[in-house]
Amino acid sequence: MRKTVIVVSVVLAFVLGSLSPALVSAQKNMNSTFGAMSSAQKMEKKKTLYQRLGGRKAIEAVIDEFVNIVAADTRINKFFADTAGDPKRLKKFKEHLFKQICEATGGRCKYKGKNMKEAHMGMGITEADFNALVEDLVKALDKFNVGETEKNELLGALGPMKGDIVEK
Ligand code: HEM
Repeated sequence: MRKTVIVVSVVLAFVLGSLSPALVSAQKNMNSTFGAMSSAQKMEKKKTLYQRLGGRKAIEAVIDEFVNIVAADTRINKFFADTAGDPKRLKKFKEHLFKQICEATGGRCKYKGKNMKEAHMGMGITEADFNALVEDLVKALDKFNVGETEKNELLGALGPMKGDIVEK
């Protein structure tokens, strides 16, 4: 009887021992398929939002598109009539927007324009105006197929500025 127990134990230990590497690798595959982050996903996550958005050229392309959409948006384009009518002023505005987005998303830029309170003071911007502008920004981001994660992170970085921009 004792001999049988020993033999069974040895056989069991052998079977389990040879199974375990297969189990570990199956577990790894399941992790990457069902939720746990693969190393490629971890590397992507380590990149700044600025990098994930595609850096300067990609962000400038979104800003150009955004400004065109705003200029055609009759809900809010009255605010930008003077800006749109003056190429130098429009260029400066786009530069300021870029620097601000760059800084807010972890790029190596320093925004040196007015703070949001000063920049929008006296314009009488309402919450509806603010939401319309955010909607236009989303349209521009969608045009360039910016991913949901990056889109939400960018909106999350700009959202807190609302309190300084909306006056009514
Ligand atoms: C999160 C939302 C917003 C951000 C990040 C933002 C950002 C900026 C920045 C960086 C400037 C330039 C400031 C400077 O020249 O020093 C600016 C100016 C301006 N913003 Fe906004 N803004 C936002 C919302 C709005 C809204 C909702 C409106 C109106 C509907 C608006 C209208 C303007 C106008 C008219 C200017 C002046 C443009 C010029 O210099 O000619 N902004 N904004």
